[in-house]
Amino acid sequence: PMKRLTIPAIRAAKGKTPLVMLTAYTVRMAQLMDAQCDMLLVGDSLGQVIYGLPSTVPVTLDMMAAHGSAVVRGSYHSLVVIDLPFGSYEASPQQAFESAAMLLKATGAAAVKLEGGTAMAETVAFLSQRGIPVMGHVGLTPQAVNQLGGYGARGRSAAEAEKIVADAVAVAEAGAFAVVIEGVVEPIAVEITRRIACPTIGIGASAACDGQVLVAEDMLGLFERTPRFVKTFDDMAGHIAKAVTTYADEVRTRTFPGPAQLYAPKD
Ligand code: KIV
Ligand code: NA
Repeated sequence: PMKRLTIPAIRAAKGKTPLVMLTAYTVRMAQLMDAQCDMLLVGDSLGQVIYGLPSTVPVTLDMMAAHGSAVVRGSYHSLVVIDLPFGSYEASPQQAFESAAMLLKATGAAAVKLEGGTAMAETVAFLSQRGIPVMGHVGLTPQAVNQLGGYGARGRSAAEAEKIVADAVAVAEAGAFAVVIEGVVEPIAVEITRRIACPTIGIGASAACDGQVLVAEDMLGLFERTPRFVKTFDDMAGHIAKAVTTYADEVRTRTFPGPAQLYAPKD
């Protein structure tokens, strides 16, 4: 079997090969995406996408552990990164270490992701120096929705742009192996990608980033709402609706099950 990509391999991709990342929450989706991806993200976006929650705020460590285990079991090539959910890491570096260690032990994933910039730099350093690779996440940070007031693009003012660049630099210098840049005006992503030594992974950011990530259900046309930065590469919702309509018709007309699906008695 293929060897999983390593943290050094991901770091070494900067300036060379664009990194391909998608979210995965379940074993079958992980199996289907693994070979084409460099990294799979067990994102706390599973709160909305899988559980119908209003935001990522209610997502728990146990939810992340359950889905993370499934994704690790469904993949053998991609490096698996798991989100630290809201409330599991912000209080202290010690709290973050305990939560992250629990997730890596329970799932077999290689790294965690956490949201925040300068305020989280000490925590990023604490984990990185103790064997836990950390992916940063700056710009639009959905766990801060109650603070931000929504999911609009960040960095439209010069002051906010400067703050986001400083956030990315802080987590990179603290030892993050990569940094997600989400929902920012494009020049910010270009500037961060130029300034920091580790790869930047864009989502609603810039094609100049060192890699891209999308929520798989968004890019497959499977989720109900898609922000501007999502390109839908297929219409999976349409495929499912069509298959279910055909099934319902065949049940109601008694054409399913047909001869091919039936067991004949032994003679
Ligand atoms: O939870 C998630 O899916 C994410 C990505 C969108 C970066 O954090
Ligand atoms: Na997330």
